[in-house]
Amino acid sequence: MTESREHVEPTSPPPHLVRMDALGRDAMLEYFARAESFRAGSGAGPKHSGRIVATLFYEPSTRTRLSFESAALRLGAQTLGFSDPAASSAAKGETLIDTIRTVERYADLIVLRHPAEGAARLAAQVASVPIVNAGDGGHEHPTQTLFDLYTIHRQRGSLDGLTLGLTGDLKYGRTVHSLALAAAAFGVTLIFIAPAPLQVPDHLRGRLEEMTVVRTAAALDEVIGELDALYVTRVQTERMDPAEAAALGPPRSLGPEDLRKAKDDLLVLHPLPRVTEIDPAVDEDPRAWYFEQLADGVVMRMAILDGLLSGAAPLPPGAGAKRPAPEDPPWRESPEAKGSSCANPKCVTHRERGVMMRTNARGGARWCAYCDWRVE
Ligand code: NCD
Repeated sequence: MTESREHVEPTSPPPHLVRMDALGRDAMLEYFARAESFRAGSGAGPKHSGRIVATLFYEPSTRTRLSFESAALRLGAQTLGFSDPAASSAAKGETLIDTIRTVERYADLIVLRHPAEGAARLAAQVASVPIVNAGDGGHEHPTQTLFDLYTIHRQRGSLDGLTLGLTGDLKYGRTVHSLALAAAAFGVTLIFIAPAPLQVPDHLRGRLEEMTVVRTAAALDEVIGELDALYVTRVQTERMDPAEAAALGPPRSLGPEDLRKAKDDLLVLHPLPRVTEIDPAVDEDPRAWYFEQLADGVVMRMAILDGLLSGAAPLPPGAGAKRPAPEDPPWRESPEAKGSSCANPKCVTHRERGVMMRTNARGGARWCAYCDWRVE
């Protein structure tokens, strides 16, 4: 189905927001500024009335879907979509590509959350409307990161010289992966606080070490006093097989006593939902910022939708005045990867019928272009 498939590459491809490393510092700072202007009330109003934003959520969500819908409505756009794939044609076996090629005819922009790693990049290769990655399995969650970083930037006035601790599930936590990449681009020192089975995957750690100072701590107590922000995450049991989850034992819970040695202006963040990893007693501490920051998510998502719907999203580095190229067309064949398959069983190339692996070269190695696993 390569030649015969009637797929027309858009002549002027839409920019997408599917991968964190496609945005450099300047584009992120521009997003912060745009979010700030929406917070101040300028640019709000029915600027995008008549436009339609689709939210296709193949995994559970409260905040991400509702904040995107809130952002769209605040911009005057309307929304449609599904939040339960069992009630969509996915339950009949429809591929993601076919669903995207349908919904692009109903909506001006698609916000996609999907369990397969690299799903949003695949969608961006076939879509004629902008795709926003609202989480692709355990891989990335760039819009959460934009507002996590915006919150830190806003509260601190700058990201220069900061130290960020990340704890919880650093292996499967997509918010952790995207936030670490984005913070590293600003030279933020990263401290990964987790036991070995929940540590950051090697392929990501290697990339981060090329960008900034990366440290590991076995216990929060060792480093709490150094941190400017502490990012706590939930153990992603839904991404583990039962034996892996059972071997972990009960997760550690952050309690008020853990913050005794922390800086007075520490920001405690959590992408939410919280399960047991933060004791509700911490909510009373003025440093607990995970509910406070939710409004930042709405204004950031307004900035994202506004930029993409206007065709004026902040550009990645090196793009000059040109819109970014489509995500590596042609979208199906990858001669150098022919016959090989991605080693990551959760990669979209294994979950979506007929999609072959494509690879990128970086640092003398080859990487799956969808899920970023190294090709041996
Ligand atoms: C996170 C996610 O979906 O990755 N939630 C969110 O989008 N705010 C974190 C999580 O589910 O643990």
